[in-house]
Amino acid sequence: MSDWVKVAELTELSRRGKKLVVLGDERVALFHDDGEVFAFRDACVHKGRPLSRGTLLRGRLICPGHQWAFDLRTGRADDRDDHQPGFPVRVVDGGVWIRPGAPAAPPAPLTARTVQE
Ligand code: FES
Repeated sequence: MSDWVKVAELTELSRRGKKLVVLGDERVALFHDDGEVFAFRDACVHKGRPLSRGTLLRGRLICPGHQWAFDLRTGRADDRDDHQPGFPVRVVDGGVWIRPGAPAAPPAPLTARTVQE
């Protein structure tokens, strides 16, 4: 896992459901939903508002800017062709790891699954 970076403890995400982490110049918004962890670039694909201030609602992330709803598992915006870039995620021994670098671009799947709690 040399290209993976530990960014949080799962317990931090379990309490609040989200957490902002900064890796160099990249701001990454982490979300915990239904036993899985997701990581997105913290700048909405629409107008750049911080998704870390968004709201989780039934498997969707609602942007605080203009309320676009993104599917946590695909990054796709509801009723649009836009995708929010995301990062691969692993959970190992209670630690949340992401693989930084260029976020996945559509149409590739964006976020990875929690592999362990
Ligand atoms: S900035 Fe996110 S919906 Fe407009």
